[in-house]
Amino acid sequence: MPVATATEQALEIKPLHPLFGAEIIGLDLREPLDDETFAKVRDAFNNYSVLLFRRQDITDDQHVAFSRRFGELEETGFAIAAPNPYIYRLANVDDQGNVLAMDAVKRTFLEVNARWHTDSSFRAIPAMASILSGKEVPEGEGETCFASMRVAYKAMPEGRKKSLEGMRAIHSYAYSVSLFGEVGVTQEEKDAVPPVEHPMVRTHAPTGEKSLYVSGHIESIVGMPVEEGRLLAKELIDWCTRPEYVYTHRWQRHDLVMWDNRCVLHRATSVPSKQKRIMHRTTIAGEGPVV
Ligand code: SIN
Repeated sequence: MPVATATEQALEIKPLHPLFGAEIIGLDLREPLDDETFAKVRDAFNNYSVLLFRRQDITDDQHVAFSRRFGELEETGFAIAAPNPYIYRLANVDDQGNVLAMDAVKRTFLEVNARWHTDSSFRAIPAMASILSGKEVPEGEGETCFASMRVAYKAMPEGRKKSLEGMRAIHSYAYSVSLFGEVGVTQEEKDAVPPVEHPMVRTHAPTGEKSLYVSGHIESIVGMPVEEGRLLAKELIDWCTRPEYVYTHRWQRHDLVMWDNRCVLHRATSVPSKQKRIMHRTTIAGEGPVV
């Protein structure tokens, strides 16, 4: 369980899971936070890795404004964009608001998110954080699961940690979407993010703690035969996502959940076939290459 730092003590913080994650109680994120309150939220984020804010009925502009406090935002650019260029609209409905047919291309695109991943690990400078707002949430399905790669690294035998030192993985957007066949992503969009190499163990800058850095976007591991590398990536993702290490978020309407992509894996459990699920996400860019 992360230990609350001095600045966090004034905020009401309720742990979500014994190992990471916390609910922050008492804030209205439609209003700009003063610097002191924001600093407490940022400390809690760095410490707990996943934060939940309930009852945040915010507009896209308010969502973007809150997100910007943490840094520059990634623009969407990819297949599912809302009118606001910083909002990814992850919705299983068509333009008329009807739940997508089971064979709709857009549905397949959403299913990519059902693999454990960390956002934008396919970029040279991957995302620092993501903030997801539940606009319409289904009952009894469509949860989002989170796993801390920092906790998982800490729990590894020392010999295993040593064997991963200096190893690098190749992350590729084209590879991960290719696993789902035709998902409506253009060649131009794939070319915009050519495969990139990142270390498999990184340092989480705010805490100085080491973390595994693996993702469903890993295509291969440098210096290993492709299939062997993919098996190692799977083994490490399985290690991070053992059931007792996973926090499963059951959405209530207007929940806002943010996670630290530097050290957290996440996945959506399903794309509901009958109930609507409409989520809006901002993505906060990283500050530099992974180290
Ligand atoms: C995501 O992978 O960013 C979205 C997760 C979700 O829709 O639950």
